[in-house]
Amino acid sequence: MPVSLPSLLVLHGPNLNLLGRREPQVYGVVTLAQIDAELATLAHSWGYRLTALQSNHEGVLVDAIQAASEDQSGILINAAAYTHTSVALRDALAAIAIPAVEVHLSNIYRRESFRHHSHLAPVVVGQISGFGEQSYYLGLQALVEHLKKGKPQN
Ligand code: DQA
Repeated sequence: MPVSLPSLLVLHGPNLNLLGRREPQVYGVVTLAQIDAELATLAHSWGYRLTALQSNHEGVLVDAIQAASEDQSGILINAAAYTHTSVALRDALAAIAIPAVEVHLSNIYRRESFRHHSHLAPVVVGQISGFGEQSYYLGLQALVEHLKKGKPQN
């Protein structure tokens, strides 16, 4: 019987469905589908399955984080604008036992001051920001390496 691979969840927050045509000077021209395809390829090469979800709705993301703790090994999250506003997402990540890595396409610290604060940063393993779509790939690698070490979160 084939052994099923452990699974990782990638969560994309609001407006990231528009990647490729949304402010390309800030976020680049790569689409979300292309990013998810590359993440799935990388995950497979490192021995994981990948499930990807994009939502413009905070509660959907909270539900996904809660559900992930049942059947996922870790979470890669770009909460987009909710990074800067959502105590609910932070609390959801803090409530679960699996690790999460936060990523951003743009360098949020070089942008408007309201983007400089992340509610998620204190409850994730680490954050990668500013490398375009590479932030996702580097973040996935960091999550896998973290899981390999079997380290508890934080
Ligand atoms: C973002 C940065 C956020 O400030 C912004 O609201 C986004 C995308 C990024 O990936 O650079 O929607 O998370």
